This record gives sequence, structure tokens and C-alpha cells, in this order.
Amino acid sequence: MDSIHIQGGIALQGQVRIQGSKNAALPVLAATLLTVEQSYIRNCPRIADVHAMVSLLRKLGCLVTWREEGLQVDSSQVCRGAMRGEAVKGMRSSLCLLGALLGRCGEALLEHPGGCVIGERPIDLHLWALEQMGARFSEEKGMIQGRTEGLHGARIALPMPSVGATENIILAGVMAEGDTHITGAAREPEITALCRYLQNCGAVIEGAGTDHLLVRGGNNLYGAEFTVPSDRIVAGTYLMACIGAGGCVHLEGAPADEMGAVLRTASQMGASCWPTEEGICIQASGCPKPVERLSTLPYPGFPTDLQSAALAVLAGAEGRSVVEERIFENRFRVAVELNRMGACIQQLDAHTVVVRGVRQLHGAEVAARELRGGAALVIAGLMAQGKTRVTGCQYIYRGYENICRDLRELGARIVSV
Ligand code: EPZ
Repeated sequence: MDSIHIQGGIALQGQVRIQGSKNAALPVLAATLLTVEQSYIRNCPRIADVHAMVSLLRKLGCLVTWREEGLQVDSSQVCRGAMRGEAVKGMRSSLCLLGALLGRCGEALLEHPGGCVIGERPIDLHLWALEQMGARFSEEKGMIQGRTEGLHGARIALPMPSVGATENIILAGVMAEGDTHITGAAREPEITALCRYLQNCGAVIEGAGTDHLLVRGGNNLYGAEFTVPSDRIVAGTYLMACIGAGGCVHLEGAPADEMGAVLRTASQMGASCWPTEEGICIQASGCPKPVERLSTLPYPGFPTDLQSAALAVLAGAEGRSVVEERIFENRFRVAVELNRMGACIQQLDAHTVVVRGVRQLHGAEVAARELRGGAALVIAGLMAQGKTRVTGCQYIYRGYENICRDLRELGARIVSV
């Protein structure tokens, strides 16, 4: 199934359950390597990136079993880290295994995760920080070999709040001798989730959710149970879909307390949103308003992962909007496809586009080239008059369990073939 067909112009109604968070599940699964006991990770999304991480863990010697509600992981037999093969290629999230393997085995070997469509995706901060903790790296033929005689605590001042680098430092820090202070840490909820799982395992981590973390090393970690929180980006995707197509939707499980910037943007776009006991309710007319300037920022600012979804909505918001992508340097590729649907998006530079919103997008055949841009094309298809076919859907399935099922539950006419 590599294409999605959408009959647009239908308002969304009803309720949909939000899946577990991809970007929380992945570092938590990496962290299960740090204990020789069994862990049970509930609410893991059944998405391609999680399946790829599971196959990597199995290659490393973990016993991983899908249970009714989640993943059971037994890392007692983990062998020395030598990750190769397809699973690592094109999956940046394997990078969080680096800190975990150095902590568990004293070595790690992985293929350079490389850049991707949205940008260079360098890993200099990861390597620099782990070197301060006693790791040494060499790179040949696209493989990164990491080794340590034993990690030690350090004071690390991150020059930019890299989510992945913060996660790698935490994963290494809980296994290091001594304490690690991180300043300038990323504050994303997914990092807080990782800290909570590790605390369940007996780790001592202070400052979770802030940009100053203290990770106490040297504690023996035991297995633990953990429930992956709902995915704020999937919730934001469906919230944007409702703003674009119109309707009244309840996002069950949506973490409203992690989505302040998104909810503020939604009301600027003319939608009414309110938190409920179990999630977020949103009502929208289907005629979104333009936003003078929308800039992506590190958490708690507007998330870069929802920039493409917002762009799709603004493409159908009559009037002028400016969208600024401050996190990645090439995250506007989807604009070319949106313009094929009648949008009028002009790129000013690597970080800025101007949108002249049109009254009506029209259906077209468009291609997804990466995860969040693909989801944005689905939103545009829901908004457009007529039929849209989105190809390249394997990118979308990396992060969305079943976007067609979810949107059909909200009344959309959408199928994957
Ligand atoms: C995580 O990627 C997420 N991925 C991304 O989600 C998300 O967009 C990103 O954080 C920002 O929120 C996962 O959690 C698996 P960064 P990560 O390190 O850790 C630069 C999705 O769609 N940088 O915070 O790779 C980098 O180039 C994905 O679910 C360096 O310069 O992001 C970027 O410009 C896409 N050197 C900025 O920092 C480094 O060593 C933010 O990157 C590392 C990063």
C-alpha cells in the first residue's frame, strides 16, 4: 500500500484516539538496554520506526515481544554493539542507541544516520558531548565506531537544545561514574518521558522538563513498566486537519498541556479549541484565517514537526501568511507539492516562505518525500475540491499508525491502496 486516495471537501466529525508518541517510544526503547532486567513499555505505537527499533534491539541480543498493550523487552543477553543493516539506514532515531550502547557495552558501531530531506541532520553535538564523558569515536566507510574505557560524569553546556543530543547524554549519564550536569538541554516532553522511564528503573535525574538537568551516575538500573504518553504531533496533525477541512472533532488522549503553542496558533487560524477530561475538542468553520507570522521554535514553542501541517492549512487561508522554519534548514519541500494543488507558496530563503492563501485548493497527484510533509499532503487532500492521490506513503507510515483509519473515523473519505 503505497498511495492514499482522498475525496476532499468533507468536514470532519467525531472522535479519534491519539496513538502513543513515536519520539518518546524510541529513546525509551533504547533505554531498555541499560538494565539486565525485563521492562514492559505500554502504548508503543505500531509504526515503522518502532518496528525498525525493535529489529535493531533484537540484533543486539534483546528478547522483544509484542504483548496486548505494548512491548516486553529483556536485555539480559545483549551482546557487544554492532548495528548494521537496513534498519539503521534512513532512520535517524537509531542514533539514541549510541549513548545507551556506550553505557551498557562500552562500545557502539552504527552507520552514520546521515542527513535527510529536511536537512543535513549533523551529529557533531552528540559526539562532542559523549567525548566529554569519556567516549572516543572514529569514522570509516560511513560507519561510526564509538568506544569507552568507562564513561564519567561531565558538565556539558549544549550550544543549542538538540533533542537527540540531550537524550544521548542522559542515556550515557545514568551509566557513567559520577554526575552529569547538562545546561542548554532540550525541554521536549519526549525527554521528560525518557527521564520518567529511567526514574522508574531507579535512576536519579533532576530537572526533567527544564533546560538544566542533573543526571546522577553509577546507579544499578532495574527493569520497569512504563506507559508511552500520547503523541502531541499526531494530535496536532489531526487538529490541523480539522482546521483545514472544518468540522468538530474530539482528540482522545491529546496532551493539551504539551500543546499550548499549537492551540494558540489554532485560535489565530479561527478555530475554537478547549481541553476536555480526556483530550482536546476542536471546532472549525473550514475557512481558516491567515497568520501574520508563524515561527517554529524549540519546545515549548511551535513544533517544527507541525510546520508542514500548518503550511497546508495556511495554503487555504485567504490572505497573506509568513512561515519561518527556525529548526531545520530545508523543511519546505512540501510547498512544491502543495502548489500543484493550487496553493501559492513562495520560498524567500532556506528558513522562510510567504503564503498567499487561496479560497480553494484542488485535488492532484502529489508525492510525499518525508514523514511530516506527507501528512501535510493528506491534510491538503481533505481540504481540496475533488480527488487527491498521495504517493510515497511509506514515509507517512513511519510515524502514523493508521492515518487513513483515524481520519475515516472522523468521516473523511480516504483509503490507502
Ligand atoms: C528530534 O530530532 C525529533 N526526532 C524530530 O522529529 C524533531 O523534528 C526534532 O527533534 C526537533 O524537535 C526524534 O525524536 C526521533 P535535534 P533530532 O537534534 O534529535 C541541529 C519527526 O518528524 N543539530 O533537536 O534529530 C539539527 O541539524 C522528527 O518525528 C546539530 O547541528 O533533532 C537541527 O537543525 C523529524 N548538531 C537542530 O539541531 C547535532 O549534533 C535540531 O535537531 C544535532 C542537531
